[in-house]
Amino acid sequence: MEASVREKAYRRVEPATLLNPTPVVLVSCADSADPGRPNLVTVAWTGTVNSDPPMASISLRPSRHSHGMISASGEFVINLVDEALCRATDFCGVRSGRDLDKARELNLGWRKAEEMALAPAVQGAPVSLSCRVRQILPLGSHDLFLGEVRAVEVREDLMDDRGAIHLEKAGLVAYNHGLYQALGPVLGFFGYSVARPEVFSRRMAAWTAPRWELKSARFLARDILTAAVRPGDRVIDATMGNGHDTELLCSLVGPGGRVYGFDVQPSALEKTRGRLAEAGLAERATLFLAGHEQMKERVSEPVQAVVFNLGWLPGGDHGITTRTETTLAAVRQALELLSPWGVLVICVYPGHAEGARELQRLEEALGALPPRAYNVLFQRFPNAGSGAPACLVVQRQR
Ligand SMILES: Cc1cc2nc3c(=O)[nH]c(=O)nc-3n(C[C@H](O)[C@H](O)[C@H](O)COP(=O)(O)O)c2cc1C
Ligand SMILES: C[S@@+](CC[C@H](N)C(=O)[O-])C[C@H]1O[C@@H](n2cnc3c(N)ncnc32)[C@H](O)[C@@H]1O
Repeated sequence: MEASVREKAYRRVEPATLLNPTPVVLVSCADSADPGRPNLVTVAWTGTVNSDPPMASISLRPSRHSHGMISASGEFVINLVDEALCRATDFCGVRSGRDLDKARELNLGWRKAEEMALAPAVQGAPVSLSCRVRQILPLGSHDLFLGEVRAVEVREDLMDDRGAIHLEKAGLVAYNHGLYQALGPVLGFFGYSVARPEVFSRRMAAWTAPRWELKSARFLARDILTAAVRPGDRVIDATMGNGHDTELLCSLVGPGGRVYGFDVQPSALEKTRGRLAEAGLAERATLFLAGHEQMKERVSEPVQAVVFNLGWLPGGDHGITTRTETTLAAVRQALELLSPWGVLVICVYPGHAEGARELQRLEEALGALPPRAYNVLFQRFPNAGSGAPACLVVQRQR
């Protein structure tokens, strides 16, 4: 044990159920008095109590409307909660079914729950457990309802072809001393503490996504833009094409920022405009049907980032491609527009003749920039073939 852990001090507090985290679930119930109006109650005092027969418990205060309903019907459904249901879960824990129809208020859908006569399941919940009450145990503040799990229904997208259940993909929510929290990364699996190292790495690989992927010039370009652009920034997409970069930039600059887009093809302008409209971002952009070599005529304010994705429009006319002379002219203007710490990101495709020329001339031009004023990065993927896209990045210094 680390010395720092050994030295930590403790303080005694009042005895309480500080057993954390707990699950937080939406329990659905209905009774014969009004079967058309089921109720939902949020429960954190819930637990697994037996495997065979499968049993789970919920503890309810007698004052809850749902307490009376479950006592009368003898059944309830435990619906697991994912991030999409989190807000509704909080709502169902602070409003009573005595006063309003919570499901209607929240626009939640019901689904018939297997093995239940009255209690329905919440449509969309990752998992629902249909429980029949076996015993009610009065404990003091709460009554414990011991339920035998009669049926389990799992949302199909959480199961694989072999029928295995992948709850790690469900985005389940935990309740942690007053806070709803998403679950973090997978740290291990049942028995991992004694697994052989090769077994451990092989099995863990299934649950760990790469934190960062060294994939291509395009990925690097987007990583750099994401790191460099902040809400409120002014930025330029010098080659809109299908509008992917323009869309990313619009989301990064937020409602108070501005993205200037350039392309010489009307179809590129239309595609970009459509993409932005669909994403609700159109108001953040000014799109020019103009060559980027007119950049300084169209944009007069300093910008935080300029991105070039050279070449031709994917899926379009390969004859309409960026040209070395106009690219160099535009890059020079972009450098003049960059604010201190601003970045210029250029993806180049040397797999075709004009692209190879662009790369050579850009490397020369950017390689000659004074190092006190600019940092320049030239990134290639030497094992991906000579035509693989390259990325050039310039950051203006103070
Ligand atoms: C996160 C959270 C956890 C809760 N856990 C419980 C619980 O375990 N038992 C309980 O009786 N009430 C619990 N409640 C409170 C009830 O959900 C709440 O009083 C609800 O309004 C009762 O609804 P009803 O009157 O329609 O049954 C919890 C509330 C929240 C927000
Ligand atoms: C590889 S595409 C850009 C892809 C785009 N960034 C995207 O995310 O979909 C290159 C684009 O540059 C455009 N282009 C060619 N010459 C140009 C110029 N002088 N000024 C601005 N855009 C130009 C082409 O029409 C083409 O749409």
